[in-house]
Order: sequence, then C-alpha cells, then structure tokens
Amino acid sequence: MRVAVTGANGLLGGEAVAQLLGRHEVLALGRGPCRLRPGAYVWGDSDLADGRSVEAALLAFRAQAVLHAGAATDVDACEGDPALAWRVNVGGTEQVARACRALGARLVAVSTDYVFDGEAGPYDEEAVPNPRGAYARTKRCGEEAALLLAPDAAVARVAVVYSGRAGARPTFATQVVEKLRRGEPVKAFSDQLVSTTLASSGAAMCLELLLETGYRGVLHVSDATVLDRVDFARRVAARFGLPAEIVPVKTAEVKLAAPRPLRGGLTVARAAALLRHRPLAIEEALDRFHAEWLSRGTPP
Ligand SMILES: NC(=O)c1ccc[n+]([C@@H]2O[C@H](COP(=O)([O-])OP(=O)(O)OC[C@H]3O[C@@H](n4cnc5c(N)ncnc54)[C@H](OP(=O)(O)O)[C@@H]3O)[C@@H](O)[C@H]2O)c1
Repeated sequence: MRVAVTGANGLLGGEAVAQLLGRHEVLALGRGPCRLRPGAYVWGDSDLADGRSVEAALLAFRAQAVLHAGAATDVDACEGDPALAWRVNVGGTEQVARACRALGARLVAVSTDYVFDGEAGPYDEEAVPNPRGAYARTKRCGEEAALLLAPDAAVARVAVVYSGRAGARPTFATQVVEKLRRGEPVKAFSDQLVSTTLASSGAAMCLELLLETGYRGVLHVSDATVLDRVDFARRVAARFGLPAEIVPVKTAEVKLAAPRPLRGGLTVARAAALLRHRPLAIEEALDRFHAEWLSRGTPP
C-alpha cells in the first residue's frame, strides 16, 4: 500500500516511518532536510503552512493512507504566533484532508489531550472539548477539519510524547535522564495530571488504526496510566537507576505563555478494546523507553 506520513522528522512521525519500512511504499513528508536514518522511503520537503505543497505531494504520490503527524507543537510559540499556528495546524490539516478526499484515501490525524480544559480529567472520547490557548484551539479545529473534509478519517489523540529512539528530539523524559545523569536536579510540575505516550507505542496504535481498522471518529491512543509529572519524572529516574532529585513546582509559579490543562489525561479503554496494540501501562512503557535508550549506544 502507498502510505504517507507527515511530520516525519518528529517524534511520532519518525517512529511511524520506521515501523512502515519494508511493509509498505512510504512517502515521508517534513519541512526541510530529512533527519531520519536512510531507508526505503521517499522524502518530501513540504511546508504545512504553505497553501498547497503538502496536498500536491500527497496527490502526486497517490497516497492510499495518510498518517498526519505534522503540527506546530510548541504550545508557547503557538501562543506567540497564533496566525502561524492556525496555518500549520488547521490549514495544514485541511490540505491533508482535501487530498485524502480527492484520492479516496484513509486518514488518521494526530491530536492532543490539550483539546480539553483540564478541569475534570481524565477524559474519554465522548467528553466535550474546551480548548484553551492557541495551540489547543488550532488542534481542535484541525480535528474537525480532518473529520469533516475526509470521508474516511479518524482522529488519534496522544499526550506528552517521548521517545528513546536515536535522533529523536529532546523531551521532558529525556531531559530527566540527561539532567539526573549530570547530577542536576529536575523541576517537574506537581499539579499537572497527564497521560504520557511512548512514541513507538503511539505510532503503532496510529498505524493499526489507519491500516487495519475502518474506525471513524476520535480515539485516545496514549499510554494507559494517568499520573502527575513529578510521579512520571520519579518513575523515569527509578527505571534508569538514577537518584530521584525531582523538585516539585506549581504551574502558577512558572511564567508560561500558554495555559496548561491541570487535571488532564486520557482514558484509553476504547483503544484497548479495538486494537491489537494495547495502550501500555507506565511500567511497560518505561521498560521500552529504557531499551530504546540503550539501543542508541549511550550508557544509561
Ligand atoms: N509532543 C507532544 O508532547 C504532543 C502531545 C500531544 C499531542 N501531540 C501531537 O502529536 C502529533 C505529533 O507530534 P510529535 O509529538 O511527533 O511532535 P514533533 O516532534 O514536534 O513533530 C511535529 C513535526 O511537525 C513538523 N512541522 C512543524 N511545522 C511544520 C510545517 N509548517 N510544515 C511541515 N512540517 C512541520 C515538525 O518539523 P521540525 O522537526 O522541522 O520542527 C516536526 O517534525 C502532533 O499532531 C502533535 O500536535 C504531541
């Protein structure tokens, strides 16, 4: 099958491309040069913020299935430039969905727990979104664009993505490991209840949803455990055998441009029932994260 992945230089998109190789014909789309390991895929440099370039690339490839993982993901940068966030997260998703409609292709668009306000999480798929901030609003509008414009579409929500894969960009989880290894304490929010998503697991669930189900609508595909960020950091430290020098801080004590949901998190019972790849409990997710890290060739 001809499968395209947007955001292919990103945490989730990069994993998805790696998992597709050898099984499908793959178009990896990202902005600028490819940062993935060489492999049997075609790279396309396409800007989601540019009117038609992603749409044109998908049409030229004659995609049969598209995992749309590209997005402006820096929530504070989105708050500073909401027009750009809109062009990428809404306009870019419109491009992808229009191409899928024209091609009769199946679409999975990746979204976020930030569509919820964080007053009463964890949330299931039926909970009513109430996005706060530019990133959250544009991602919520992107969900609607995907579901309205593409006839065969699903939205896969993830949260707090992390990866131990070589070349993956730094995340909170990798910073915990790096800082504790240097003997530096790590600050973590004690009042943010979140789900996390190991990118390799989230990508596997997204690809199964895309290629092996006809599910339409929203599905939560994060890890299965809801926890606060201090707890998450302590568990990362424990898994790597590092001293848990985690300094709890309150969200209100830190000056952040964009609002953060406090009582967030996603429930994943529906994904657990629907998919062969089940959402991982945090212990299993961190075992895999640790194994990914070791396979980088860096000592723990
Ligand atoms: N990361 C998280 O914690 C998190 C949490 C909840 C939901 N999500 C959602 O999960 C999905 C995957 O994100 P991720 O975690 O893989 O984040 P990521 O690593 O930041 O990946 C996003 C990718 O999109 C690309 N991108 C940004 N602007 C673009 C543009 N104008 N044109 C083309 N590509 C562009 C980025 O390119 P560069 O590599 O060049 O920057 C990056 O490779 C997104 O829909 C995101 O909203 C992520």
